[in-house]
Amino acid sequence: MIPVIMAGGSGTRLWPLSRTQYPKQFLPLNSDLSMLQETVSRLGNVDQVSLICNEEHRFLAAEQMRVLDQPCSIFLEPVGRNTAPAIALAALKAVNNGQGSECLLVLAADHVIENELIFQQVIAQAEPLAKEGDLVTFGIVPTHPETGYGYIKADVEGQKSEAQKTEAYPVAEFVEKPDLATAESYLSEGGYYWNSGMFMFRADRYLEELGKFRPDILEACQKAMADTATDMDFVRVKAEAFEACPDESVDYAVMEKTEQAVVLPLDAGWSDVGSWAALWEIKDKDASDNVLNGDVIAHSTTKSFVMSSDRLVTTLGVDNLIVVDTPDALLVADKSRIQDVKKIVADIKAAG
Ligand code: GDD
Ligand code: MG
Repeated sequence: MIPVIMAGGSGTRLWPLSRTQYPKQFLPLNSDLSMLQETVSRLGNVDQVSLICNEEHRFLAAEQMRVLDQPCSIFLEPVGRNTAPAIALAALKAVNNGQGSECLLVLAADHVIENELIFQQVIAQAEPLAKEGDLVTFGIVPTHPETGYGYIKADVEGQKSEAQKTEAYPVAEFVEKPDLATAESYLSEGGYYWNSGMFMFRADRYLEELGKFRPDILEACQKAMADTATDMDFVRVKAEAFEACPDESVDYAVMEKTEQAVVLPLDAGWSDVGSWAALWEIKDKDASDNVLNGDVIAHSTTKSFVMSSDRLVTTLGVDNLIVVDTPDALLVADKSRIQDVKKIVADIKAAG
């Protein structure tokens, strides 16, 4: 099994802490380790990992792996083209190395998983399924109609468990990021899981499915990986070919379309630290339901997240607020509106 870690996202919803120069997967948001380092550490001992990130972050990524003493190949993308191409790069390298039938464990670099033991057990259950050619996803029981996730309908009738001794189901339907009304209907209907954004499949099977549904992406990635040089731990992806690759996530490109997807439920305290509100959810809170970080005094403040980096930050008489202070930018937001932080980032970009 080859762990493949996708670490090329921009993490704009955690602005102003997460920046283009220093996106959230490289930040220690949940412990002393960065989100990326936590992702690698929870695998236990692994010989090698493939990490795919933007070229701009090569030293950050290499240094964080060095601290963990983790041997790795770091694929450097000249531009982000989303996750379908990123995974294809790692899969093509495996095939080129004669490891096409190896299983890739594809992981996001920005998740929190509380119970590592259960996580490792479920991963072990996925491997025989993936070996047979299935594209395995890990399903989370949904708690609210989140529109930022993929939804998986399990084909309960077709449960694979007898032979495999696992609670795995064929995927009846995979819908990436439905609108709110659709997500609400899935929750009331029942039988749906959230896509955790982690997958396991054989390298050759992924490329086969990608070639079936998005031959344009496969072809661009093949060109981008042709005769790539590896220097130190870095795999330098060919810029011109990769720039020409369409931008698409694995969810839309492959998982929504393949007929060989299987869902394995995962109950290991998973959360996607996608926003300040999500971070507030998972952190320990004080008696007033606040998460206070750094030099902060919060008076008559409730259900808020207040973070300071290098000066005193104080709040008085506020509720449900997010305050994140950094040396050069300050965010003050209503927690219920926090998903829209990316609109601020877009405004900043537009303003140049
Ligand atoms: N190398 C690389 N290149 N990595 C990328 C790129 C890229 O261009 N774009 C995103 N990533 C990385 C991110 O850093 C993250 O670790 C992972 O891929 C997933 O990308 P997100 O952008 O965070 O995806 P999402 O949260 O919108 O949606 C996915 O995850 C949800 C669960 O967290 C989907 O798989 C959903 O279906 C799923 O529910
Ligand atoms: Mg995400």
